[in-house]
Formats: sequence, structure tokens, C-alpha cells
Amino acid sequence: MTLLALEGLTVDIPTADGVARILDGIDLALDAGEWQGIVGESGCGKSMTALAVMGLLPERAIAGGRIVFDGRDLLTLDEPAMCRVRGAEIGMIFQEPMTALNPVKTIGRQIAEGLRRTRGIGRAEAEAETRRAMGRVGLDPARFSPDLYPHQLSGGQRQRVMIAMVLARRPKLLIADEPTTALDVTVQAEILKLVAEIADETGMALLLITHDLGVVAAIAEAVHVMYAGRIVETGPTDAVFAHLAHPYVRGLFEALPKEVIDPGARGSSLTAIPGRVPDPLERSPACAFADRCAFVEARCRAERPRLERLDRADHRAACFYPRPAVSD
Ligand SMILES: Nc1ncnc2c1ncn2[C@@H]1O[C@H](COP(=O)(O)OP(=O)(O)O)[C@@H](O)[C@H]1O
Ligand SMILES: [Mg+2]
Repeated sequence: MTLLALEGLTVDIPTADGVARILDGIDLALDAGEWQGIVGESGCGKSMTALAVMGLLPERAIAGGRIVFDGRDLLTLDEPAMCRVRGAEIGMIFQEPMTALNPVKTIGRQIAEGLRRTRGIGRAEAEAETRRAMGRVGLDPARFSPDLYPHQLSGGQRQRVMIAMVLARRPKLLIADEPTTALDVTVQAEILKLVAEIADETGMALLLITHDLGVVAAIAEAVHVMYAGRIVETGPTDAVFAHLAHPYVRGLFEALPKEVIDPGARGSSLTAIPGRVPDPLERSPACAFADRCAFVEARCRAERPRLERLDRADHRAACFYPRPAVSD
């Protein structure tokens, strides 16, 4: 059953120099309990996609298309209704947990308040649940007092607090936006393991935004690669990794070690492709990757390729000249 469907999602932000089209028609469908990954260079619109689903876009941003979650178009909900969805039904963990934690409230109080608001339980029950959730994420209440403030914790511990908040509210969908990028490598692995365990135990659907292709290969059923506000290659993870079709995606994945399909392999990050992602205001009607593409042809500078089906069902790429599967 489809839990989340983005249908032609667009996000425009008016600027002094014109309207910046940040997201340009994102289509994506996630089933209940399914885990999918979103990858792509910085500035491609990954976070904007997550924020659009959460109803947390910048104030001036204008969203178009549909975000259907559990049968409702979230873009049509008013703020009080969206507020109920946020937290209770969709949880999010951010790259920098301090952006989501209140610096002047103890961690125990923040977890408990979120619980009482979203699950309507009493104080004593919320406190017991808070302790249980803290214990589950490795913040043993015997050692980590719920009376600590966020600034008294390390980055990894703060991320555990965020995960405890999500866990306690039991949303149907967890969006994790580069949840470990700001952390030490060893802590990164622990936090990702925890996120995966929690999502597994609770049956949550997971939308994981990450630079770590090893993680996507290991845990995501489907992967979406974004470039310049669009999805340029998408499909079941095994099909995409077996046949990288789009030159951008091949560039990203180039230095990827073979062990990437091994869940134990870690730290395989995106490689650098010469050039940069075009600014949203500079986007042309051509292929947005044309200026950086080693295989560019005249047609690529004249029109924009749509996502087209490749060799296998649901594996699609937006390129006029995708790499043929036979050359693998
Ligand atoms: N508050 C904002 N106002 C205007 N443009 C923004 C804002 N936040 C991000 N952007 C622009 O939106 C685009 C997508 O950003 P983002 O979704 O954060 O990328 P990613 O998460 O893939 O790194 C970028 O071009 C970025 O500069
Ligand atoms: Mg981001």
C-alpha cells in the first residue's frame, strides 16, 4: 500500500532576481514499511524535498503538485492539521539535531512533551515512555539524566535524543536527512545502525537522505538520484547499482568500491564531478547536466530528457544517451 506519493512536486522561491525553481517535478512513491534512499550532490534539492513533506518549507516558498500521505494531500492541509501529521505520523531527524531541539528545555521534557502532544497520554506515562525510549537509543537514564540540556550532550548523543523522540511517537514514516554527516565516522555507523534497527522494530517506512552510497546499497529497496531539483535516475536499488545509466550517476558512483553491496562496507561517499550544480535561477530548458557531461550531444543542449524506462521495470533515467546495459 502506498504510504507517501509525491506527484509532480514543485517548489518555487521568489528572489530579487526572479523565481527560483528549487524542485522541478518530483515523482516518488513509498509503500508502508518500505525503505528508500535519496542521494545527490549538495544543492540538488534533497532537503527541500524532505521539508516539503514535513510542511516546513521556507516561508516564501510556493509548493505545487501533490504530496499524498496516507490518502491526504498534505499541501491542502492547514497548519494545525499539518502540525498533527508532523511528529505523530511523520518524524524527521536532521543533519544538525540542534536545529530541532529546544536549547532551553531538558531532553526528558522535550521527549515527554512531544509524546503527550502526539499520543495524548498523561504525564506519568509519558515520563515512563521517555525513559524507555532513552534506554532503547543507548541513553541509559541511569547515566544520562533526562534533566540534561541539549548543549550538555555530544552530537551523537543529541542525534540519539532525536531518534528517541521519533521512536516514542511511532510515526508511520521517518525521514532522515543526512542524520550522520556532522558526526565522527565511528559514531555515524552506530547512529545509522540504530536508525535501521528502530525502523525495523517499529515497521516504519524510511526515507533516508545520505551521501553514503554503501548505506543506500545495504538498506534501501529503491534509490532516487537527484540533480538540479529533479530525479535523474531511479529504481530498485539492485537494478540501479547493477547498471548505472545516467552519466551523472556514473560520475557519482565511480570511485565506489566493489564491497558497496556488502552491508559492512562503510564510508563510500560521492566522488567529485568537475563543475557544479547550476543555480536554480540559471536553469535552462536543456539537460541540467549538459555542461558537466562527458557524453554531451547537441540534443542535450536543446531539450530536456524525461525519466524513461530502461532495461528493467521501474529503473528509469532522464538521459537521451543512457549507458546501455549490455556494456556492463
Ligand atoms: N531558504 C532558502 N531560500 C532560497 N533558496 C534556498 C533556501 N534553502 C535552500 N535553497 C536552495 O535550494 C536548492 C536546494 O537546496 P537543498 O534542498 O538544501 O539541497 P540538498 O539538500 O540537496 O543539498 C539549492 O540551490 C539551495 O541554494
Ligand atoms: Mg540537504
